[in-house]
Amino acid sequence: MTDTRELSFDEFDELQNPREDATDFEKLTDAALARRGFMKGGLALGLGSLVLGASMGLSRDAMATSRLAFKAISTNTKDTITVPEGYNWQVVVRWGDPLWSKGTSFDHTTRGTGESQELAFGDNNDGMALFTHEGRNILVVNNEYTNRKIIYGATDGKPETADDIRKGKAAHGLSVVELSSKDGYWSVVRDSNYNRRITADSPMEITGPARGHDLLKTAADPTGTKSLGTWNNCGNGRTPWGTYLACEENFNGYFASSDENYEISPELKRYGVGHKDWGYGWSKEDARFDVSKNPNEANRAGYIVEIDPLDPTSTPKKRTALGRFKHENAEVVLAKNGQVVVYLGDDERGEFLYRFVSSGTYVQGGENRDLLENGTLYVAKFHEDQKGEWLKLTPETTGMKSQAEICVHTRMAASAVGATTMDRPEWVASNPHKAEVYCALTNNKNRGVKPNKGGDATPVDGPNPREKNLYGQIVRWQPAGGDHVSDAFTWNLFAMAGNPAVHQDLNKGSANITTENMFNSPDGLVFDSKGLLWIQTDGNYSNAKDFEGQGNNQMLCADPETGEIKRFLVGPKECEITGATWSADKRTMFIGVQHPGEKGNSQFPDGEGSAPRSAVIAITKKDGSIIG
Ligand code: FEO
Ligand code: CA
Ligand code: CA
Repeated sequence: MTDTRELSFDEFDELQNPREDATDFEKLTDAALARRGFMKGGLALGLGSLVLGASMGLSRDAMATSRLAFKAISTNTKDTITVPEGYNWQVVVRWGDPLWSKGTSFDHTTRGTGESQELAFGDNNDGMALFTHEGRNILVVNNEYTNRKIIYGATDGKPETADDIRKGKAAHGLSVVELSSKDGYWSVVRDSNYNRRITADSPMEITGPARGHDLLKTAADPTGTKSLGTWNNCGNGRTPWGTYLACEENFNGYFASSDENYEISPELKRYGVGHKDWGYGWSKEDARFDVSKNPNEANRAGYIVEIDPLDPTSTPKKRTALGRFKHENAEVVLAKNGQVVVYLGDDERGEFLYRFVSSGTYVQGGENRDLLENGTLYVAKFHEDQKGEWLKLTPETTGMKSQAEICVHTRMAASAVGATTMDRPEWVASNPHKAEVYCALTNNKNRGVKPNKGGDATPVDGPNPREKNLYGQIVRWQPAGGDHVSDAFTWNLFAMAGNPAVHQDLNKGSANITTENMFNSPDGLVFDSKGLLWIQTDGNYSNAKDFEGQGNNQMLCADPETGEIKRFLVGPKECEITGATWSADKRTMFIGVQHPGEKGNSQFPDGEGSAPRSAVIAITKKDGSIIG
């Protein structure tokens, strides 16, 4: 059998639930496929208007007045962080660093126990946000998942004991940690009253339309209102009322069936739940994760989780109103009328892009805490003419029985209304200076080849213009009238990643991609306060063939007004760069380095003879000036 531990989540899901083969698909979509040939030609000719809009190019004038005030760096394959001249970086906190003095220092040989991990920073940090309160700095960080070969040390990567499982569950979730800075150097405040670990076992409250629905009831919770734990939180969000949003992504990879003949429901299959887990082994110690025993448990994951960073005793709230899918991040904006709009991507090949609009309105200083409890969910439909619309997901539009059911089986609701299948929507970021929103579509080898898991076709068109999309693109849209609650928008592609050194066709990328700034698989997207867009990659770091000259995963900075993109940072070997936040004075930028050495070839950040460790990094300018 294939060693599933070497596969991506998507690839693993495909093995579990093979999709219809290309022959059946082609039968279904003959017309679309015939049109594809035409579209390709049309795109090649019309790229200028599709990408960056007709008015935007990279003129010499624009370059001369660049707002990207640093000297771009080259790619590399070093096992360290590289930043431009004039910048410093330091490690702030790493996987396994104790958050309390009763914890133990990280042991590079054993790599810790269940107990030490419960008292320490979690693994594989992803989205994060820094909150400042009464002069104190509280960093909230997702700990998305674990690489078993790394956390269990020199074994085959399989958890063997109950304590291994305890450690694995404790390495997931979130870490809340107070930071202090002295002479420009950031460190963890051990024993701070803000420090907290939220793990795969922490109590959660289920809120919103699906609260108490039969689909959420289990033997342990016959009320369907209280679940345990959050795991595989990828990107994040933050609200104007000071809470943090964790976003449950590949939740399915933790469920397994002890009964190999158990029939998995079509609804669970759509979310990739199968008979085997990803190798975490949790179902061996915790029957919640045994789908044949507790089939509804998987319906209690895949949500946005709202957390109060300032109250370590608060119970995190799963917000079912924002839908259940493989959430990437949650980009929160306030509409002109005060309604809260949240843009949300579902990161799987051929899945969708969503928008939530709250029923209530935000009032500064008012009672805003439950604005994410009720609202309307929409899914994006992109048209060929660079227009688009948000389609409402209601019982009337979807044919589903109730809003509760739509909030649990959101993918099916979106399929029912004919939403546009996308090339893996990763982070969404809203321009702070205008009504304009960006989404990273990271890549999609199935584009034009296979339908998504729900059988929806994935034609090569619109914002997904390349068959077997290797490199990814960034789409952006402008809501009609500059109003985020408008149901109409216009769109174009801000950038199509590619490799102009290797390809001359569409795979060379858009006009703003050059041999100097090229990258693949945009993932993290975050705007800074100046309105510059930071792009983080989670892509192919082979530095060979289609990816020759692209080096390790990296972070770039882009100017949305000119389309200019410059490389700012290169990460260590076999990592991805993910998550970004700033200190209140904007003189420090924090970013995440996730899974260095995921294939066994890094000793970042501790060097020779050490275990590779995911980490949060602080970046400052040597002259102490603002960095975003
Ligand atoms: Fe966890 Fe979609 O990346
Ligand atoms: Ca991601
Ligand atoms: Ca990714």
